[in-house]
Amino acid sequence: MKSTSMDEIVSLSKRRGFVFQSSEIYGGLAGFYDYGPLGVELINNLKNSWWRAMVKDHDNIFGIDGAIIQNPQLWEASGHLAGFTDPMVEDVLTHKRYRADHLAGVDTTDLKELKSLLKDKRSPDGNQLSEPRYFNMMMRTWVGPVEDDAAIAYLRPETAGAMFINYLNVKETMRAKLPFGIAQIGKAFRNEISPRDFIFRVRELEQMEMQYFIKPDSQEEAYESWRQFAWRFLTTELGIKESSLSWHEHDANEKAHYAKAAVDIYFKFPQGPKELWGTHNRTDYDLSSHMKSSGKDLSYLDETNGERFVPYVIESSVGVGRMLLAVLCDAYCEESVNQETRTVLKLKPVLAPYKLAVSPLLKNKPELVAFAKKLYAELKQEFGMVMWDDNGNIGKRYRRQDEIGTPFCVTIDFQSLTDQSVTLRDRDTTKQERIAAGQLISTIKEGLKR
Ligand code: GAP
Repeated sequence: MKSTSMDEIVSLSKRRGFVFQSSEIYGGLAGFYDYGPLGVELINNLKNSWWRAMVKDHDNIFGIDGAIIQNPQLWEASGHLAGFTDPMVEDVLTHKRYRADHLAGVDTTDLKELKSLLKDKRSPDGNQLSEPRYFNMMMRTWVGPVEDDAAIAYLRPETAGAMFINYLNVKETMRAKLPFGIAQIGKAFRNEISPRDFIFRVRELEQMEMQYFIKPDSQEEAYESWRQFAWRFLTTELGIKESSLSWHEHDANEKAHYAKAAVDIYFKFPQGPKELWGTHNRTDYDLSSHMKSSGKDLSYLDETNGERFVPYVIESSVGVGRMLLAVLCDAYCEESVNQETRTVLKLKPVLAPYKLAVSPLLKNKPELVAFAKKLYAELKQEFGMVMWDDNGNIGKRYRRQDEIGTPFCVTIDFQSLTDQSVTLRDRDTTKQERIAAGQLISTIKEGLKR
């Protein structure tokens, strides 16, 4: 089977309203994207699936929604002001900046190693490169009317910070005992040196993260269980093919400054297998740092044995946009049907932006349109995202719905007026079945479960 190219995904995303370049009419802004009408539905479906599996299905995981801008001391204590860096080199003539590890084609942040690998390398414009150095990716702003150093604040580079500083609030308000987790979905900002590969590496991203607070002696078990959770979620909840995924353990050069162990699930993106979802053992790094920096006691008293300790944290972290890209790439296919090529998004129905489309065979026959409109209203009441589509011939309508992953199309024709039956067409098999209009809701409900 032919592999999907990034151009195909970018083109479909724009053509059908999934993703647009941000500020497009002004020439765009590198690393920023807007989600269109279909993109936002798909994103909401992804977030709802994650929130259900992560928060609603676990009695001991609690959701929060923390502020994007927090007291800058948070980022001092978390180590991000000192350590949230990527290695960078600069073209000495054009002053364009590049990720040193990307130019060297390796997964390391070690400056010595990068320097030696890039010794004879030129920039993509053919010029000499500067020596690699670290570049901090935190985005800055000022809070209040005076733009001086005392007013500097940062847009969060990850959502995790708010979960650590709300550890006590959640523990107390929810009367939580270890192990318990705090989960959050929200925007994060990174001044990436070279945003690229469409929405894969952006400067404004959204993350779904969960911090699981545990006793130190259960770190191995919790780490194993949350990495398995991520794999299960991607394959069973989102329907991503196992063959599109692989494990990638971080070596010492790759690990973030807070992690004792880290494992990614890689997805086979068009540009190659790359990180989709990370599971990290953050130990007591964050709570201990915040305890020291804030002076607040964040230790935990185990009432069963009187032991007091600082909890360890296992983190589960995935980007929403990256998940959307993976889902689009995995679902995209081109198939030959009746000597014609059709593009189809074989999305799991739970993720599809529209669940079904309703069409009268002809739009200039009032009796067909009236029948179809009545049915459309009933189906919309039941399924919410239902599209009315009466444009072009029926074949074209099916192709249009295939391309956006709509699992079912319902067509009303003259026979419908006499025997109340309609045609139900299945996106994946392209089979058309004649069924009683009264049975549509239960048949579609069943079909959407697959
Ligand atoms: N709290 C841990 C953390 O932020 P990370 O590996 O830097 O860890 C977690 O990011 C996830 O966020 C990644 O696995 C990826 O899905 C997503 N992500 C990170 N940087 C991104 C970027 N620049 N653009 C899009 N998604 C990104």
